[in-house]
Amino acid sequence: MNSTAGGTSSRIGKSTRADFPILADEAHDKPIIYLDSAASSQKPRCVLEAMNNYYETINANVHRGAYELAAQATEAMETARAETARFVNAYSANEIVFTKNVTEAFNLVARSWGGANLGPGDAVVITEMEHHANIVPWQMLAAEKGFEIRWISVTADGQLDLSNLDRLLDGAKLLGVTAMSNVLGTLNPIRRLADAAHNSGALILVDAAQYVPHLPCDVQALGADFLGFTGHKMCGPTGVGVLWARAELLEAMPPFMGGGEMILDVRKDGFTPNHIPHKFEAGTPPIAEIVGLGAAVRYLDGLGMERVREHEVSLTAYALRTLQERYGDDLAVHGPAEPACRGGVLSMSFRDIHPHDLSQVLDDRGVCVRAGHHCAKPLMRHLGLAATTRASLYVYNDTSDVDALADAIGAAGDFFAA
Ligand code: ALA
Repeated sequence: MNSTAGGTSSRIGKSTRADFPILADEAHDKPIIYLDSAASSQKPRCVLEAMNNYYETINANVHRGAYELAAQATEAMETARAETARFVNAYSANEIVFTKNVTEAFNLVARSWGGANLGPGDAVVITEMEHHANIVPWQMLAAEKGFEIRWISVTADGQLDLSNLDRLLDGAKLLGVTAMSNVLGTLNPIRRLADAAHNSGALILVDAAQYVPHLPCDVQALGADFLGFTGHKMCGPTGVGVLWARAELLEAMPPFMGGGEMILDVRKDGFTPNHIPHKFEAGTPPIAEIVGLGAAVRYLDGLGMERVREHEVSLTAYALRTLQERYGDDLAVHGPAEPACRGGVLSMSFRDIHPHDLSQVLDDRGVCVRAGHHCAKPLMRHLGLAATTRASLYVYNDTSDVDALADAIGAAGDFFAA
């Protein structure tokens, strides 16, 4: 794997930037240095065109009309489902349930699978580095159903503390874990965790919101049971997320929301649910967004996810080195130190400058980062931090963005020292 940011993989950053209209120099009065892709990625022209083309040429509702336009819209949506299934190596396309986002995907699992399977005496194991989307749905359900929530802790170097994993999993019905922390960048050992969960008789739910956009994802190789990801962090639009789950789990789960599309029959005395995945897709789906997600998958496939990962390891190594050389102990990047063990998410503390103040000065120089608790308050409390300044890398970034970030941090240091 290339670790110098000067090799072949770094050409992804240089040559792909032109695919993203918002990053064109002439689009704004100052160039955008976009380093907030962990919050939401930018969209390549092909995704915008696919959505526009859908509205201009085949817009109609899906799975309903007998006319040609409706058939074309249905085919476009189902083609995107098949492409998305292939992208994560699902066993079959009917395992892809389109949701609004990962948050909705996990609420679906909690309400549907959890509602049917969890009660007093049961336990769900989650980790201290989860996003709120993989915490609060379980807390809400636990308050109703009376099951226990157990926590896997985090070590000083930002890894999961797995020293008492077997005890935590003993008698548990589900392990919920992020594949990559949105704060620390930590890549967790999902296959090992899946094997441990299964050996204890538990299922594993994987938050892949920060994983699917950045690394090759194979749900079969990971050993996952449920896995969630979202369009807008992987070059696709907002408004469409994905719950992938093994077909037999989806078959056994009751519907989440009721309404049109999710039924085979409705009578005065009840209803018969539709087949999967439609059983979980009540109402008119976000058709244009699903088509856009399909285009995003094709775009990332074209780049090659192995190369995307190489590019990010290389650029992360460059960023860690540059920040260390420029600011030494004045700047902490939280999380694992080794670029090959982490994603391109750099959560920083710089001197005693508040992250919101730092991000304001960075914004003055066109550098877009996220400051705050990153929807991971239990982790922030564990780290003893109220907030961090988070820069996150993607396919359109290169070393010039990292240099601009480092320069802007220096300017903030000068400003607040004055
Ligand atoms: N979950 C997204 C983030 O980490 C919004 O910024």
